[in-house]
Amino acid sequence: MLTLANINVSYDGSRILRGVNLTVPEHSLVCLMGRNGVGKTTTLKSIVGLVKTEAGSVKLGADDLTKLAPDARARCGIGYVPQGRDIFPHLTVWENLKVSLVVHGRKADGAVDRVLELFPILKEFLQRKGGVLSGGQQQQLAIARALLTDPKILILDEPTEGIQPNIIDHIGDTLLKIKKEGKISILLVEQYLDFCLGVGDSFYIMDRGAVVAEGPIAHLNDDIVKKHLTV
Ligand SMILES: Nc1ncnc2c1ncn2[C@@H]1O[C@H](COP(=O)(O)OP(=O)(O)OP(=O)(O)O)[C@@H](O)[C@H]1O
Ligand SMILES: [Mg+2]
Repeated sequence: MLTLANINVSYDGSRILRGVNLTVPEHSLVCLMGRNGVGKTTTLKSIVGLVKTEAGSVKLGADDLTKLAPDARARCGIGYVPQGRDIFPHLTVWENLKVSLVVHGRKADGAVDRVLELFPILKEFLQRKGGVLSGGQQQQLAIARALLTDPKILILDEPTEGIQPNIIDHIGDTLLKIKKEGKISILLVEQYLDFCLGVGDSFYIMDRGAVVAEGPIAHLNDDIVKKHLTV
């Protein structure tokens, strides 16, 4: 279980996150939603270790991650797919995957085959440069790369942003498959409401740096959507 308690973050003296509390239970897929600029990415960065937290704690199971560097958090089981994907455009698909293994000190021993089963298109394109893949294929590569770090929790930042519908469907199905296998829980930042309704078990909504609504995904009704999500 991942637990964020009372997280505060400031950029240049202005408070961005205000006492964020959030829990991702094992075996679950939690959606973190909210309009542009409310602090979703900053919340993820506070989990991954890419921003300095002024207060609060981040725990994954028995491990207190709060004071750890990003690489140490990754070794504890945090897998991160950043917003905008961030793959290496000049390396091939295969090299992109290999970098992930090398950086995390892991042997391939079947792990690459398993992620290629989840994303068959990557198997076809192993020798293509990352930069020539479509946006959706790059997103799949970014997810595959994060899975190769053998995470306990997979954290994705807007994986459907700017991606064609058939790949969005495939990514949704794949996340559900990963969750069902039971080893990896998922925290998904997403503004695409129907995607969240299709894959999520529960939701959190942020506004101006704080969590303003939360509950089981079935409780995400029109009133909440209108108040906190529609522009
Ligand atoms: N490096 C930074 N320096 C200063 N301010 C920042 C920085 N990164 C983000 N911010 C500000 O912090 C606030 C929250 O940003 P964040 O990226 O967490 O929002 P978000 O909810 O992920 O938005 P989006 O939906 O557009 O991705 C915004 O007001 C943003 O302008
Ligand atoms: Mg963001």
